[in-house]
Amino acid sequence: MIRYASTNDKAESELQRKYMEKAAVYVTKLQESLGRSPKCCVVTFGCQMNARDSEKLLGILTQIGYESVENEEDADFVIYNTCTVRDNANQRVYGRLGFLHSLKDKKPHMRIALCGCMMQENEVIEKIKKSYRFVNLIFGTHNLFRFAQLLVTMFENQEMIIDIWQETDQIVEELPVKRRYPYKSGVNIMFGCNNFCSYCIVPYVRGRERSRDPKEIVREIEDLAADGVVEVMLLGQNVNSYGGNLDHPISFAQLLREVEQIDGIRRIRFMTSHPKDLSDELIEVMKQSDKICRHLHLPLQAGSDRILKAMNRRYTKEQYLALADKIRNAMPDIALTTDIIVGFPGETLADVDETIDVVRRVRFDNAFTFQYSRRTGTPAAAMADQVPESVVREGFDRLLKAVQDTARERAALWQGQVMDALVEEVNEQDDSLMTGRLTNNMLVHFPADRTKIGQIVPVSLDTCHGFYYTGHIPSQKDG
Ligand code: SAH
Ligand code: SF4
Ligand code: F3S
Repeated sequence: MIRYASTNDKAESELQRKYMEKAAVYVTKLQESLGRSPKCCVVTFGCQMNARDSEKLLGILTQIGYESVENEEDADFVIYNTCTVRDNANQRVYGRLGFLHSLKDKKPHMRIALCGCMMQENEVIEKIKKSYRFVNLIFGTHNLFRFAQLLVTMFENQEMIIDIWQETDQIVEELPVKRRYPYKSGVNIMFGCNNFCSYCIVPYVRGRERSRDPKEIVREIEDLAADGVVEVMLLGQNVNSYGGNLDHPISFAQLLREVEQIDGIRRIRFMTSHPKDLSDELIEVMKQSDKICRHLHLPLQAGSDRILKAMNRRYTKEQYLALADKIRNAMPDIALTTDIIVGFPGETLADVDETIDVVRRVRFDNAFTFQYSRRTGTPAAAMADQVPESVVREGFDRLLKAVQDTARERAALWQGQVMDALVEEVNEQDDSLMTGRLTNNMLVHFPADRTKIGQIVPVSLDTCHGFYYTGHIPSQKDG
């Protein structure tokens, strides 16, 4: 079903608030029949965008009376916010759905919903309709803002509710959000993607690029700052093309300048940067700023010009290297991280060696390496020369070794220095330690008490353990 929403966005958020009140009545009824407060569990697959969407889902669920729990076993309502960027993401969802089925057999009042990128694919919907009949509600990425309304429909019906839109031009502001962390938050600055890299499903499941009004973004961040947030992560599939389609176009660098002015915000991060659109203006703004973190995630994907062209990335190996050089010259302490795909159709081991050459020359601080996954409907899926698994494996192993070598070498550079860390949480293995994040995105573990969570403290980086540090907070007299 193709649906283009046309309602005014303010009217839409008011409408959804009415549905929240209505949904709350059903949750109260459920509470009476259970004799305790109903519990919900939101499980996120995929990227930071999905994580942020899950905070919106949880905002609505807590508003209508659900209590949030970590495990599906303890929940009366479970929602999976899915990802479909690689096939293993899909397989994980199907695997866990099998497990949910067994839970629901024991707890028939349990309700199950699916949303997110995977649901935008027809064959997924067909498979769920056929093999997972116990799912109560399915919706996609474009109508997430209608969640309250969809919940009401779910409570009022016994059969499976499916509502998937092909596109939307709506950006609905002012719906409740429940943040995972009190001190940091993601902030969407744009939705969708127009780049159509030939391997990638995202433009098909997230729709066309739409930028949020800068005034709305600034207002949201001011509210976050007033609520104790010190670090924001600006989110978009390609933040460097932010603002181009606004009525009054502004650049991403100009947006950053405005976000920098907001009192209380101490750190600004952003994700992701497409190399083809990274401007000199952005480098300049980053260089002058003491709030923008010294970290740039700049996906390379491949180092061979032939493969880059087939991927429709619109830069060459030399252009990428020149850009990385320019960034490192402007900010020598910056951490450069990247994403790389191995096994794109037609890629040979000689092509992978070109990628490894870029890794060695740029010396990435970290790299996420992926084996190519064939996504139905993308141009690359129809390409003739898909690479055999054994060749992919060999290239992947070679690349991984190069990546680990440079990452280890870069990590060791900061040994003995004192750097600011945002204290994020109690260390998972040892609760006398806190885990903090440095401006370059590395983690450091050090003794401190939990009252420090959410604060930015200086930490001496005593010992490098490959990809993280252990350290201590220097006393005044240490200097
Ligand atoms: N918008 C971001 C990336 C979003 S997807 C960007 O352009 O950088 C995150 C990463 O998943 C991509 O950078 C890419 O490395 C990887 N990826 C996307 N599609 C893939 C596929 N079909 N197979 C393997 N990896 C893929
Ligand atoms: Fe996918 Fe390319 Fe868009 Fe990133 S820029 S989301 S890799 S199409
Ligand atoms: Fe996955 Fe969708 Fe993000 S496909 S990577 S969750 S945009």
